[in-house]
Amino acid sequence: MAIRNQLRLLLTAGSLVTAAVANPLPKPLGDDTDDLPLPLVIWHGLGDTYAAEGIRGVGELAEAIHPGTLVYNIRMDDDASKDRSATFLGNVTEQIEKACADIAAHPILSTAPAIDALGFSQGGQFLRGYVERCNSPPVRSLVTFGSQHNGISAFRECPTSDWVCRVAMALLKGNAWSSLVQSRLVPAQYYRNPEQYDQYLEHSNFLADINNERAAKKAEYKENISKLENLVLYMFADDKTVVPKETAWFEEVNGTEITPLRARKLYSEDWIGLRELDRKGGLQFKTAPGDHMELSEKVLNETFAEFFGPLKLKNKVSPPVQLGHGDL
Ligand SMILES: *[C@@H]1O[C@H](CO)[C@@H](O)[C@H](O)[C@H]1NC(C)=O
Ligand SMILES: *[C@@H]1O[C@H](CO)[C@@H](O)[C@H](O)[C@H]1NC(C)=O
Ligand SMILES: *[C@@H]1O[C@H](CO)[C@@H](O)[C@H](O)[C@H]1NC(C)=O
Ligand SMILES: *[C@@H]1O[C@H](CO)[C@@H](O)[C@H](O)[C@H]1NC(C)=O
Repeated sequence: MAIRNQLRLLLTAGSLVTAAVANPLPKPLGDDTDDLPLPLVIWHGLGDTYAAEGIRGVGELAEAIHPGTLVYNIRMDDDASKDRSATFLGNVTEQIEKACADIAAHPILSTAPAIDALGFSQGGQFLRGYVERCNSPPVRSLVTFGSQHNGISAFRECPTSDWVCRVAMALLKGNAWSSLVQSRLVPAQYYRNPEQYDQYLEHSNFLADINNERAAKKAEYKENISKLENLVLYMFADDKTVVPKETAWFEEVNGTEITPLRARKLYSEDWIGLRELDRKGGLQFKTAPGDHMELSEKVLNETFAEFFGPLKLKNKVSPPVQLGHGDL
C-alpha cells in the first residue's frame, strides 16, 4: 500500500543536508565505527515503489533521527514502474532471493556488522523471509507496519484505474491454489484461508513455508528469528484494507474466533522462534492509529528513536512477558 500521508520532505531543509554530509556513512567494521547508526533497509508495500516520495520521506526521517544512517530501499527493478508491477506479479521466493543478493552485493550493507529493517505491509513479511532465509548481514531489529504475517483471507478491491492490480486480481478468481497463480501472483502467496487450510498447506508458495506450518520444520528459520534483537509488530487500529487486520500480530482469525499468537501452536511449539524471542523481551505488539498505512510522523519518529540507530544503543528493557493479547 502506498503511504497515504505525504511525509514532509525533510531534505528540503538545508540543515539536514549539512548533517548528512557531516556524518560519514558506515564504514567496514572497525573500532571507531561503534557510534555510527546501523544501515536501514526498507521494503515497501503493494502498489508502491522504492522511489516513491512517501518511501523517500520515511528514509529521510530515519536519517534525521539518527544522522549518518545509510538507507537502502529494496527494489525488484531500478525502473520504478516495473518495481511497482513486481508488487503484484512475481514469485516471492525469487523476489526475496533478489533482495538477499542485492543486499549481499551492496558495498556498504554487505560490510555492516548488522542492519535494521523496516517493512510496510507485505514488505514486512518479505523482510521476515530475508531474516529466515538469508540474514547476511543479519538484521538487528525488524519493524513491520500492517504486515500480513498470518496471511490474508480475502483479497482487496482494486481501483478501476489500476490495471496491473485488476489483471492480477482477475487471475485469482477461484484459482488461488493453482501453481500458475502461486508462482506469479504476489498476494496469493500469502493467502491463507483457515477454511481451506489443507489446500493452503499443500499449495502455498511462500507463507506456509516461512511460518513453518508444514510437518517438516526448518530449524534455521527458528534460529534466525530468535536471534533478532527486536521484532516490532504494528497493527493499524482501523485497518480496513487488510483482512483480517490481526494478521499484523500473527493472530489466527477463523470466522468469529480470534486466537492470539501466544495461544497458538506456532508459538507454544515455537515453529519460528517467536516464543524464544518473546522470552528475551524482543517481541513487541504495537498499535498505530488509523487505517492501513496511515502513518504518522510521530509514530515513525518514536519507532526510529527506540529501535534503530547505533549498534551500542541499548534498547529499553521490556516488562516481563504476560500471557494475553499483547499491549492493546
Ligand atoms: C540464517 O541466517 C544465517 C546468518 O545469520 C545464514 O547463514 C543462514 O543461511 C540463515 N538460514 C537460512 C535457512 O538461510
Ligand atoms: C518459485 O521460485 C522458486 C525458486 O526459483 C521455485 O523453486 C518455485 O518452484 C517457484 N514456485 C512456483 C509455485 O512455481
Ligand atoms: C477454522 O474453522 C473451521 C470450521 O470451524 C475448521 O474446519 C477449520 O479446521 C479451522 N481452521 C483452522 C486453521 O483452525
Ligand atoms: C520527527 O523528527 C524530525 C527530525 O528530528 C522532526 O523535524 C519532526 O518535527 C518530528 N516530528 C514529530 C511529529 O515529532
